[in-house]
Amino acid sequence: MPFYQTRGTIPKKRHTIFKNPNGGIYFEELVSREGFSYVYTNLYHLNMPTQVKELGEFKSCSEKYKYKKNDHKPYHFLSNKSNHTLLYNKDVEISRLYLELKSVKSDLNGNIFRRNGDSDMLVYIQSGNGIIKTNYGNMQFVEGDYIVIPRGVIYQFELKTKHVSGLTICSKSPIETPAKYRNRVGQLLEHSPFCERDIKTPVLKNPVDKKGKFNILVKFREGTKSFVYNNHPFDVIGWDGFYFPWILNINDFEPITGSIHQPPPVHQTFQSKGFVICSFVSRLFDYHPDAIPAPYPHSNVDSDEVIFYSKGNFVSRSGISLGSITYHPMGLPHGPQPGKYEDSIGKKSTDELAVMVDTFNPLYVLSDTESNIDKDYPYSWLKK
Ligand SMILES: [Fe+2]
Repeated sequence: MPFYQTRGTIPKKRHTIFKNPNGGIYFEELVSREGFSYVYTNLYHLNMPTQVKELGEFKSCSEKYKYKKNDHKPYHFLSNKSNHTLLYNKDVEISRLYLELKSVKSDLNGNIFRRNGDSDMLVYIQSGNGIIKTNYGNMQFVEGDYIVIPRGVIYQFELKTKHVSGLTICSKSPIETPAKYRNRVGQLLEHSPFCERDIKTPVLKNPVDKKGKFNILVKFREGTKSFVYNNHPFDVIGWDGFYFPWILNINDFEPITGSIHQPPPVHQTFQSKGFVICSFVSRLFDYHPDAIPAPYPHSNVDSDEVIFYSKGNFVSRSGISLGSITYHPMGLPHGPQPGKYEDSIGKKSTDELAVMVDTFNPLYVLSDTESNIDKDYPYSWLKK
């Protein structure tokens, strides 16, 4: 994130002796991007953060990628409670999120933590709330939150509801605010649909000084490996820098509206390499007397489009429910379902809430999703 934050206690100068009250010293850890040439944060630990005592086997999940479909058609994935990966390409992987209180509790009680080794993650919360605990501090999350967890951050979820559902987007490149909304020093511009004030950052808790077995499951390439550490990973007494997890709520995205239909880039909320993420939020419709608020049929010939329907009534779609996901691959014209285009004329506002991922390389559909799709969706633009 292009703004500076500081938490807890840090020494006056970087890389110098930082005495603890017991006559010893605290241990500095530098977390840096792009080979120590881009954003970084210095964390200060009670104990050396490098003390691995056990290595687990690498558990591959490459099997799931074998069953990709070589097909070309629009999809409607029906809403369901799972953590299934639906779509992926070399840049991004898009999965459903469904966390249950029981399994999250067993992670917390069993000292199981998670870290993404080679991907940045964005979790969108459709329903439920709780706390994400990290080595940078804790953040409360609620419905509509986009939780950005950059690689290397160690985290655990704690739920305040029986379950949490949403969407997980794993990216091979950083997920950032759109460059078009930032000035030369990285501040979000006056015309940006959100600003730094809308961004929640971690609240550092008292450091945990415990020795034992702390199992960090590291996601890397097409699998996971367990690293059992000697010290509790949340033993940080302070940190400062530009690199940390953060949260933006979709309802803090101030929509850009116009006299006629505004194109998808006005909804852009995040950028990465190979894809963008957009937010469709409650907003007033176009005010030209002859405006058609629903989108025109369109062919976005260089992008695959994935939409997750989170809340409200979506102006252009019929036959979808909350938690539905549609996928419109590049090269296929699509648009409002029959009647939706005409029905939107004269409408003044929408209460829709949806998240869109537009990718610049084609996505693969994993074939185990086939049992949970609306098979008639490719024909849904035919008038009955
Ligand atoms: Fe579209």
